[in-house]
Formats: sequence, C-alpha cells, structure tokens
Amino acid sequence: MTLASYTHDQFWDGRADSLWMQALGPLENAKEMASSRGTVVRRIGAQYRVLYEAVFGPMPAVWATESLSGAMPGSAPWAALTSEEKLSVTGVFVNAGKAIAAYERTLSVKENALDRYARGETFALTAPERKGLKAFFHAGCVQCHAGPRLTDDAFHTLRFPTGKQDGSADKGRIEAFALLAASEFNRAGSWSDARLGLAWPADQERLLGAFKTPSLRGVGTRSNFGHGGTLATLQDVANHYSERGLKATDPRAVGAVDPWIPEFDKTTRDSLVPFLKTLAGQAVDPASPQ
Ligand code: HEC
Repeated sequence: MTLASYTHDQFWDGRADSLWMQALGPLENAKEMASSRGTVVRRIGAQYRVLYEAVFGPMPAVWATESLSGAMPGSAPWAALTSEEKLSVTGVFVNAGKAIAAYERTLSVKENALDRYARGETFALTAPERKGLKAFFHAGCVQCHAGPRLTDDAFHTLRFPTGKQDGSADKGRIEAFALLAASEFNRAGSWSDARLGLAWPADQERLLGAFKTPSLRGVGTRSNFGHGGTLATLQDVANHYSERGLKATDPRAVGAVDPWIPEFDKTTRDSLVPFLKTLAGQAVDPASPQ
C-alpha cells in the first residue's frame, strides 16, 4: 500500500502490526510465494551471507543443512529441527523481514496536484477538480481521509463488496485481530524491537467488517478499489458511498456502516470523481531521488 512505512497496521484488515511482520507473511503463504523460513534462510546463506553477516552477525550453522528447505511450523523438516535450531532459523527469517522493512522505509512518492494546490499553487487544480475537493469536504470524506496521506489509520465498516472467491463477506478487523494476537511475530512478541502491548480493542462490535482507511495517494492512476478490489472505477466508489455501502441484507458484506455520512446528492457524488483522479502517487526512484 502507498506509503505503508508511515503506519503500523498492515494489510487491509491489519493482520500484521509492523512493516517487517507484513514482509514475512507472503513468503510463507501457500497462495502467495509458497516458500518457507527454512528455504529463505538457505537462500540467504548461499547468496547473501557476507551482506547478512555484516549487519546481523554470524549465520547459524544450520543454514547449510540441505534438509532445511521447506522448513516452517507445521512441516516435517521443521519438526526434525532441535528447538535451538528453530529459534536461530526464525531469527534469520525475522532479520530478513526487518531488512526488507528498512528498504521500504526509503520509498516515497512524488508531489501530486493536490500537494501543489495545498502549497498555494491555486491553478494546480482545474475548476472541476476544485469543485470535487469541495465535495470531498462537504460529503464528509475528509473525516477519515485526512492528513498528508489522506487516511486516519483507523478501522471502519463501510460495507464494500467482498473479494472472497466464494462470495462470502469478509469479517475484516475482527478476524484479523485474532490472527495477529496468535502470531509469534506481533509487536508484543519476543522478536519485536518495540515490545508494545497488544490488547483487544474495546469496541469489538464496531470492528465487524471493518477495514483500514487506505491512503488515497495513487487512487487517481489505478483501478479496482476497496478491500476486495471489486469496485472497478472511482465513479463506482462514489456511487458506493452515496448509497451508504451495500444494503444490510446483502450477503457480500457484514457489520453496520460507520455513522459518519451526511446524505449527499448526485451532483456532489459525481463531482468527487475529477478530484479523486488527481490523486497520483508516482513512486520516487530510490536510486535517483530527484
Ligand atoms: C468513516 C471513514 C471513511 C469515510 C468518511 C470515507 N472513507 Fe473512503 N475508505 C474508508 C475505508 C475504511 C476504506 C476501505 C473500506 C473497505 O475496503 O472495506 C475506504 C476506501 C476508499 C477508497 C478505495 C481506495 C483503494 O485504495 O481501494 C476510496 C477511493 C475512498 N475510500 C474514497 C472516499 C470518498 C470519496 C469518501 C467520501 C464520499 C470517503 N472515502 C469517505 C474510510 C472512509
């Protein structure tokens, strides 16, 4: 997600609470990279050992063991390791995640038309785009999409359509928190440098079907919006909001919509789109920042 390094909660539902924890998720996910911490550690040992050791100190000897390939909790090669080996393999895996996170923290985006307008360049936005910006305030979008990244970094239920293949609703934050609390990689765990506490949110009912407010930087130049990626265009998003999300009876979403929205008419709805299209989020090339 654009500028992810500026926020703790990662993924739409916040099932990772640090950048490094997020980086480890796809590696061991069967539907994404289908790798394992054992395979990652072997790869680091074989190809990046000098670089790794310069930062983190000696690689544990176990990296050179062929049977380490495919080792991750729940697998046979993992069960064959001693508890000390499991700890040292996981330690290298975690360090790889932290290295990726350190790289991600160098990523940034270029200024867009809204930045130039906010800086005082009155003509950076055209008249229809300025009308859209006004609608963005008027319709209450800015209550959640505020600040330089256009997000409040909080979780809200807005009944966007599910992206699950079986068409069932995604419970979002409420299910993700249970996964997070059970993970050895959360911010309260022994691998975390932060060692922050992890308490169940008090308002659990509100979090049924809730997702994180995404940054709107970059929405102007892409498609497929919402946690399910099911709203194809920005006009579809504007329509979705003007209808206050999917109906309570629609099985593609759960939870009750945040009580934020002033009713807004079709003119306000349609004028939002030219403004949203200005929200580019072009990446700055880390190799040549200017
Ligand atoms: C109560 C907080 C809140 C308000 C108010 C709000 N949003 Fe959102 N917005 C969110 C959340 C949360 C999501 C993700 C919802 C999901 O996927 O279930 C989202 C998603 C989006 C997306 C999709 C972004 C992407 O990367 O896929 C767009 C575009 C958007 N909002 C624009 C708007 C506009 C325009 C308004 C005003 C009409 C608005 N939002 C009002 C919280 C809010």
